[in-house]
Amino acid sequence: MPAVVVVGLQWGDEGKGKIVDFISEKADLAVRYQGGANAGHTVVLNGRTYRFHHLPVAALRGKHVCLASGMVIDPVKLIEELESLSREGIRPRLTIDGRAHIVLDIHKLLDEAEESSGKGVGTTKRGIGPAYTYKCARVGVRFSDLADTESIKPRLKKAIDMARALLSGVYNMDAELDVERVTQFLHEVTSRLGGYIGDVSLLVNETLDRGGFVILEGAQGTLLDIDHGTYPFVTSSNTTAGAACNSVGIGPKRVDEVIGVAKAYATRVGKGPFPTEMEEPVASTVRERGREYGTTTGRPRRVGWFDAVAVRYSIMLNGVTSVALTKADCLAGIDPVKVCLAYELDGQEIKSFPSSPYVLERCKPVYAELDGWEALSREEKLAALKGNFDALPKQLREYVDFLESLLACPIKYLSIGAERQETVIR
Ligand code: IMP
Repeated sequence: MPAVVVVGLQWGDEGKGKIVDFISEKADLAVRYQGGANAGHTVVLNGRTYRFHHLPVAALRGKHVCLASGMVIDPVKLIEELESLSREGIRPRLTIDGRAHIVLDIHKLLDEAEESSGKGVGTTKRGIGPAYTYKCARVGVRFSDLADTESIKPRLKKAIDMARALLSGVYNMDAELDVERVTQFLHEVTSRLGGYIGDVSLLVNETLDRGGFVILEGAQGTLLDIDHGTYPFVTSSNTTAGAACNSVGIGPKRVDEVIGVAKAYATRVGKGPFPTEMEEPVASTVRERGREYGTTTGRPRRVGWFDAVAVRYSIMLNGVTSVALTKADCLAGIDPVKVCLAYELDGQEIKSFPSSPYVLERCKPVYAELDGWEALSREEKLAALKGNFDALPKQLREYVDFLESLLACPIKYLSIGAERQETVIR
């Protein structure tokens, strides 16, 4: 059985949670591979909405879930998540890789200070950027460090000195920070989460050796990748399928399938170029229909037309083998529906995604306009879900076929509603 990566092809919020949930019925392990509490994966089950920030959504099915070494984990939020699932009677088997980093209060303070300065990129303020900065500066704290907090005291002291210097020198802020308080926090983390620490890399490799089925669940989206995204308006981790291998600790040849998830339109939260951003009033209509408000922050998302240049770029970067197209139902009643085929840059038409966000800012989308479709009737939905794709409105089918030909990649899944079962396999 395979290892499957599920990765977002836009700027996050593509509906990865729903697709992972859909395919996870037979999974032996589900692993989240990067990011932290900045993510918000939503699953709707029998009218109930479940929101996940760290845990792979397969936890809902009672699967063994793992948090990989590439993550930066906020223990406070993770405990809240586990408690909220437990109130629903769901107590997943969990393994946290000892190499994963811990998000500390100092990271959240630094993230908030940067955002309050008015110069930030519009982060989720969950301490993600500073936690990865500390990791790269070799002053981070890992779950495996919890076993010996005495040995890491010099590192903690340096971490705190750095935070103090940044807060006072760059942001003109004073904060009471001391090593003892952080050590006390780490002891609490040990008592609550210590029992979950293990070796995710070993677990995943052994599961694959036995022929098991492992889902590697990404967060955010390819265009927010620290290397390949619209830097500096990005998150601080590598979000791509290639990163999944490194973050989990498996060789690249172990991945059999890469499912790229894209919304039938586009959204973006925070600052940064967004060539296909919609005008009002259509933007508000789609935002309301799609409930496009951040799962983590509640911020209204910026809304745009489907950008085939950007999604083709993401398909290439990830080696996507099939696409899952989500939220096509939310465009119902909008006519015409636009799709960006290329960009116009300084009088030239280009089809490649620029590396500079300042160049991307100057790109004007070249659109195709397609006929819109009406809201799907119950009968149309039911027939499509039973496998009769032709039951869907002709214009919607044409839209999907058109995107498929532009992307040169099969659109295997089409999500036409929020519920788990409202997914058509083509
Ligand atoms: P950070 O990841 O909180 O540092 O935020 C960096 C950028 O990534 C900001 O523009 C955020 O809005 C964006 N971002 C982070 N997580 C998500 C997500 O799950 N969905 C959409 N955007 C996100």
